[in-house]
Order: sequence, then C-alpha cells, then structure tokens
Amino acid sequence: MISGKSKVCGVMAYPVEHSMSPLMHNYYSEKTGTDLVYVPLKVEPGRVEEAVKGAYALNFTGMNVTVPHKQEVMKYLVDIDEDAKAIGAVNTLVRTDGGYKGYNTDAAGLKRAMTEAGIEIRDRTCILFGAGGAARAAACVLAKEGASVIYVLNRSLEKAEALSEIVNERFGRRIMLPMALDDYGKLECSSCLAVQTTSVGMHPNVDHAPVEDAEFYKKIDTAVDIVYTPMETKFMKYVRAAGGKAVGGLDMLIYQGVIAYELWNPETVFTREMIDGAR
Ligand code: ATR
Repeated sequence: MISGKSKVCGVMAYPVEHSMSPLMHNYYSEKTGTDLVYVPLKVEPGRVEEAVKGAYALNFTGMNVTVPHKQEVMKYLVDIDEDAKAIGAVNTLVRTDGGYKGYNTDAAGLKRAMTEAGIEIRDRTCILFGAGGAARAAACVLAKEGASVIYVLNRSLEKAEALSEIVNERFGRRIMLPMALDDYGKLECSSCLAVQTTSVGMHPNVDHAPVEDAEFYKKIDTAVDIVYTPMETKFMKYVRAAGGKAVGGLDMLIYQGVIAYELWNPETVFTREMIDGAR
C-alpha cells in the first residue's frame, strides 16, 4: 500500500510507455516488502533540467534515466560516479544533499549477469559488436575485468575508432582494436568471448545478425547478446549452432534494475528466487 511514508522513484524516458522498469521495480517492492513506489515519467527532449529539479523538489528518492536522456542528464547532477563518467552516460540517479548523484548500472548489470552465467572475462580475447552507448558500457566492463584484447567490430569504422580511443586512453594501453564490420573475415582469433550490443536482431528485425556467416561463429565460444527482445536472437542461434554458449540480455536488464534498487534501498536483500521471478 502506498502511504505518506512511501519512497518514490521513477523512470525518465521519451517515450516511456514501453518501459518494463515500473513493472520490475514494483515487483521488487512487493517481493522484498519495501515501501517504495516506482512510476513512469514521460520527459520530453529539452525538459530534462526541469524534470531533474522537479523530481528533487518533489522528494523523489531516485530515478532511472533512459533513451534519449542518458547523456543530457549528466549536466544536472551534483556528482557522477567514476564508472558512469568513463561510460559517458548515467542511467540511475540517487538523492544526495543538494541534488542527485549519477550512476551507470548497465555496466554493473552486465558484469553481474556474466558472473552469474559463469562467464570469465580475465585474459580473454573479446569481440565487441557495436560502438554506441551500450558498447561503451560493455567495453568498460571487459577492459576493467581484465580482457586481454577487445576487437570492436562496427558498421561505421569511425565510431569503432572513436570508442577505441576513449577506452585505450582510460586504461592506458591499446586494449581495443577497431575494425569495420564488413571486414569481419580478417579477424584472426579462436575461442573468443563476444558481446553483441548493436540493435541488429532486435524486435522487429529478428531475422538479422551483425554477421550473416555461420562459419564466422566458430571463432566464438561464449557470447552475450544484450538484446532481450527477442529473448533468443539470431546472433545467439548462430553461436549455439557453431557449438558455443550464448546468453541473452534479459539478465543484464534484471541486474541493472536490482543494482539501482539497491542504491536507493541499501538495506534491501534480494534472494535468488526474487530475481528469477522477475523473468
Ligand atoms: P545504443 O546506445 O543502444 O548502443 P546507438 O548508440 O544508437 O545505441 O548504437 C547502435 C549500434 O548499433 C551502433 O554500433 C550501430 O552502428 P553504427 O555506429 O555504424 O551506426 C549499430 N547498428 C545499428 N543498426 C545497424 C545495422 N543495420 N547494421 C550494423 N550495425 C548497426
């Protein structure tokens, strides 16, 4: 039951109607017995500053921020966590004195989903598909967790180069090597760990994968597709058909939510059963 004491959180997005976050977070409140309500907040582009100030004035405990506001919101925060700064995007706001502090739980969510799936990153040769915002978060996880090298394959080589430069500078070594997606045939590696972050294969384009060549997928022994609609992408099917292990993006979505929820409610204890129930 909502009462005068309930904590209020929400998700700022445009559009917001499709967001799964209200369902997920209100489910967590119910299951953990936490007095926290979570509402959808439709914020038009250009109104992010008003929205952040308004939410603070309205005593919101925290918020999630998603497309298209993840970068814009960074201008209106009193502090930003180091990982979020490196990723260049914020998806979670936590109330502090004087304003909100920004975090990025996408990266932490990906890391936790990989750990739970028993996927090791240390000393692995990685292939990162895509060079957008999601790829930047994934690149930070792979680099931070000790990948030996990350080949970044992207449709536009320029974006792959730009992302590599940012990550290499942050980690002080040439860990990322950019390549044009069309040149995938030149990639020399075996038993690679792949992370797929492009929108290729996402509903409604379910019949597509970033590389349409079954032979290529023999180079990959473990893969994560961060797409969760559909739950099994064509990319995952290619990896499995070539004998590899593939996991989808639903767990990353769930864990980024759990980690945000824990930031707003550090005392909340999640059980395996609650997390599994979110699926
Ligand atoms: P996000 O924040 O979800 O990463 P984004 O920043 O728009 O979204 O990035 C989308 C990624 O999907 C990019 O890497 C994009 O490639 P480009 O940088 O060349 O645009 C990739 N992508 C989208 N549609 C694609 C397609 N049809 N084929 C290959 N790559 C595609």
